[in-house]
Parts: sequence; C-alpha cells; structure tokens
Amino acid sequence: MFENIDKDKLPKHVAIIMDGNGRWAKLRGLPRIYGHREGAKAVERTIRIAKNIGIKYLTVFAFSTENWQRPKEEVEAIMSLLVEYINTKVPELIKENIKLRFMGRKENLPEMILETMKEGEEKTKNCDSMDFIVAINYSGKAEIIDAVNKIITSGKPDITEEDFKNFLYLPDVPEPDLLIRTSGEQRISNFMLWQLAYTELYFTPVLWPDFDEEEFLKAIYDYQSRERRFGKVVS
Ligand code: FPP
Repeated sequence: MFENIDKDKLPKHVAIIMDGNGRWAKLRGLPRIYGHREGAKAVERTIRIAKNIGIKYLTVFAFSTENWQRPKEEVEAIMSLLVEYINTKVPELIKENIKLRFMGRKENLPEMILETMKEGEEKTKNCDSMDFIVAINYSGKAEIIDAVNKIITSGKPDITEEDFKNFLYLPDVPEPDLLIRTSGEQRISNFMLWQLAYTELYFTPVLWPDFDEEEFLKAIYDYQSRERRFGKVVS
C-alpha cells in the first residue's frame, strides 16, 4: 500500500485537526462521547500509519482553549478519555519507540491529567522513532501571547523571527509540512498560527472517526503532488 509514496518527498511533520466526532455520533443516533471514543481509535490507527510511512512528528489537536465552553459532561468525558488513553497506550508507545509530548497551557488542567501527561512524557522521553504530540488546552494565539510574555520577562530589547521560535512551546519541533483537517470544515481554528505559515493544507470531508489508512495516504499523495515554493520562484 505504501509503494507509491515518494520517500524523498515525505512530510517530516504532519499536524491534524481531528474534526467531526460529534457529527459521526449524531449520524448514528449516539451521544457525542461515542464519537470521541471512536475518534480515539482513529488516533491509534493514525499513529501506527504515520510511523510506518516514516513521518517523524505527528501532532493532533485534542482540546482547544475554546473547548472549555462545551457542556460540562462533554469536557469531563474528553478529559477522562485522554487520561484513559494515555495510561493504557504508553506501554505500546514505548514498544514502538514513540515519544509522547504535549503542548498547550498547563493552567486550568485538572491535576489527574497533568500527572498522567508528566508520567507519559517521562516514560517515553528516550524514544526516538517518532514524536507524537498532543495539543491539549492549546490555542495558537495563546501560544504567541505566552511567547511574548516570556520575551518580556527575559528582558530582550528586540527579537528576530529565529529567536521568537525559541519561545514557543516546543522550539525543537520543525514547522508542520502538512496540515490535515477532517469533516469538511476549511478553517485553521486557532491551531499553530505561527508554525503554519508555509504549511500545505489538506481538507477532507471524511469525519475523524472514519479517517483510515486510505484517507491518510490520499493526503500524503496530494501533498507529494504539490510544489512548495516558500514565496520564491522555482525555475
Ligand atoms: C472534534 O470533533 C474533536 C474534539 C474536540 C475532541 C478530539 C478528541 C479525541 C479524538 C479524543 C481522543 C484524543 C486522543 C489524543 C487520544 P467535534 O466534537 O468538534 O465534532 P463535531 O464538529 O462533529 O461536533
């Protein structure tokens, strides 16, 4: 299945806005949390495929700073799902040599999730086949503001683009080459605003719980058919 992939043109970093869990559940007459549960299975599939393809960084948007405005039961259900997922999957991530990382504001996060995140990061810190990054309590504007505040505190009188990068949440992670958003919405929704400056965008109508190997490969082939110019002229 992977034989048509051009190994010399692989995206190093793929970021995903996993959208459509609620609609997936609604279509089946089920409560929204069933959609999130099925979404977690899609995350697991996606990690495996990304690693097999040879992607080095996979980032998923699991919970935005705006998602706190959802009904309390849904927020609690997503948080419990994340804790359960991290706790049960860490041994597999270690076996697969995948490093688990998080990005987002730590404030407001329940203690149980903070502890689970810390433990997951600690246990996988020496893994080096792929970084799997989960954005929790994340927003691109908040990340930029947090960076600006760190810069003010550092006392720097001025700053370059290169310096600025070092104040973001994960300075060592290269900017995404490809952003995938499922469910037909064509928006960035406050995700990685700084890092997406030259990222190739791919939108698919498929709802996140239905995202599978075939859909992932379609996104990769589409990416490989594009010419990335970064604002320059390619002769
Ligand atoms: C978007 O669908 C999805 C979310 C806000 C939550 C994403 C969370 C998961 C997939 C849970 C598992 C995550 C990990 C990392 C294991 P939506 O609820 O906005 O769907 P809708 O637009 O159809 O209502």
